[in-house]
Amino acid sequence: MAISLDSSLPDSKYSVIARLLHWVSAALIIWATLSGLSVSLLDVNEKLAHWIADFNVSATLVFIPFFAWRIVHRLRQGIPEYGDHVSITTQKIAICVHCLLYGLTSIVLISGVLMMDRSFSVFHLFELQPLFISELVTHGFEQIHVASSRLLGLLVALHILAVIKHQIGNTGVLQRML
Ligand code: HEM
Ligand code: HEM
Repeated sequence: MAISLDSSLPDSKYSVIARLLHWVSAALIIWATLSGLSVSLLDVNEKLAHWIADFNVSATLVFIPFFAWRIVHRLRQGIPEYGDHVSITTQKIAICVHCLLYGLTSIVLISGVLMMDRSFSVFHLFELQPLFISELVTHGFEQIHVASSRLLGLLVALHILAVIKHQIGNTGVLQRML
């Protein structure tokens, strides 16, 4: 992934589009992770579990073009400059973690689509057919989906902790995304 620093953005802020796409993605990914884990690990009643599964599959499918837009926007715009108060090592670590977040989210989305083993009605608007009929293949992608979504949950927790740590250190990192 090409990483460029765009110093032309004022006040070291991400563009309005980048900020909007970040917060929409964050809300959906946090919801899909917490609700998905609750259904698989807790004793959620069947009706609610079905509703969550249907809603999550529809919402994350609709999200895919927005996520693709986000990646294209990021590659075109680069990122706003960090100030001198953020060391080069910290900047490199942050950029690496952000690339991992993009990569892992892509794997979660792609494996989710490829693990579908039946046709699915997206918000009752249009029907999507499964891409594979072999149970062996769809089961393989399901395992990738479960593992990658749990890993993404951990990385997101790390990302949020890092933002909190930098806010306490007064580097103003949150303001870049507000
Ligand atoms: C970034 C988007 C997504 C996130 C964060 C996410 C997260 C999760 C999580 C945390 C689980 C529970 C895993 C576990 O058992 O511990 C799950 C399960 C599931 N996800 Fe996703 N998911 C996403 C996208 C998708 C997509 C695009 C689809 C399908 C089109 C999908 C279909 C499913 C299904 C059917 C399950 C139930 C799997 C099972 O219990 O075996 N997900 N997801
Ligand atoms: C309450 C939750 C969250 C907060 C407070 C937050 C905050 C931030 C902040 C302040 C930045 C800018 C960091 C910097 O410039 O060094 C950022 C960037 C980023 N965040 Fe989050 N975030 C949250 C949730 C998420 C979630 C759930 C994801 C899901 C993958 C995510 C993915 C990213 C990515 C990929 C970037 C890099 C943006 C880029 O350079 O294109 N964030 N976040």
